[in-house]
Amino acid sequence: MSLLRCLLFVPGTDRKKIEKAFTLEADAVILDLEDAVAPGEKERARQVVGEILKSPGLPPTFVRVNGVETQHILADLQAVLHSGLSGIMLAKAESAEDVRKADWLLGILEEERGLARGALELAPFIESARGIEAANGVAAACPRVKRLALGGNDYTADTWTTYSTEGTELFYARAKLVNASRAAGIEPPLDTVCPFIKDAAALREDARRARKMGFQGKMVIHPAQVEPVLDVFSPTVQEMEAAEKIVAAFEKAQAAGAGVIQLDGKMVEAPMVARAKQILSLNMK
Ligand code: COA
Ligand code: MG
Repeated sequence: MSLLRCLLFVPGTDRKKIEKAFTLEADAVILDLEDAVAPGEKERARQVVGEILKSPGLPPTFVRVNGVETQHILADLQAVLHSGLSGIMLAKAESAEDVRKADWLLGILEEERGLARGALELAPFIESARGIEAANGVAAACPRVKRLALGGNDYTADTWTTYSTEGTELFYARAKLVNASRAAGIEPPLDTVCPFIKDAAALREDARRARKMGFQGKMVIHPAQVEPVLDVFSPTVQEMEAAEKIVAAFEKAQAAGAGVIQLDGKMVEAPMVARAKQILSLNMK
């Protein structure tokens, strides 16, 4: 499985930053048409992003479009459905119905443009208390939904808290997204961008917290955040070796008729072996 460990956001209006983003090592780039674009600049952002997505050979590129309740959604989708687009991220998804509306519009546009209907990924951004409570339905809304994304800055504002370096205020939202994703049989979710651009230690801690809770990767907003986040979300050599050791020891024990063993002071049985195989299956760049 190829997971997205780090996705770099860039405002859709900023050609210079977009070009720079494509030269960095993030697993994907997200061109933003939503909060990073001022209301009066939406049309210009669509033009810039639309043009860029027509260029050949782009790395994986997503576009975050404005929510389905806004006047922008149709124009956003019309502007960006080009060959370079890997998927759409839908801002402020609050219900399965919201996702299905975007799915329906995408289907019409795919057909109109001779693209395979249903092929494009749609990743809902969950960033409100209502969205969190609707996460099970959102995750299962349509087959385009392969992973959810957490919007922590909107979510903390909605819940009358502030994004902190301790992360307590995000615990429930993160747990809810991880569980909803697995319950719907989709990939683990993508963690929120972290606003602390100048504090690499706080970013690493934030990313570690999300990885421990079951996220596949994290979105970032600045070039300086790419390397730390890639690092935190890549299995270490020690983790890979430990996983290999678990699988080998267990297979040997099983051949000898045992279903549970002790290895380095810990019990190992089938679920730990399944987890070890998961780690070994991660296909990193
Ligand atoms: N992608 C690519 N390049 C970026 C970048 C990004 N997201 N953010 C900054 N850079 C570039 C700058 O252009 C600058 O490049 P240069 O040295 O070649 O001139 C360099 O990295 C250093 O940038 P810096 O001066 O530290 O930041 P800034 O003040 O220019 O920008 C932000 C700060 C927050 C405005 C900017 O990082 C940004 O726009 N991030 C994305 C915001 C976003 O998309 N939000 C929506 C999702 S929450
Ligand atoms: Mg926002």
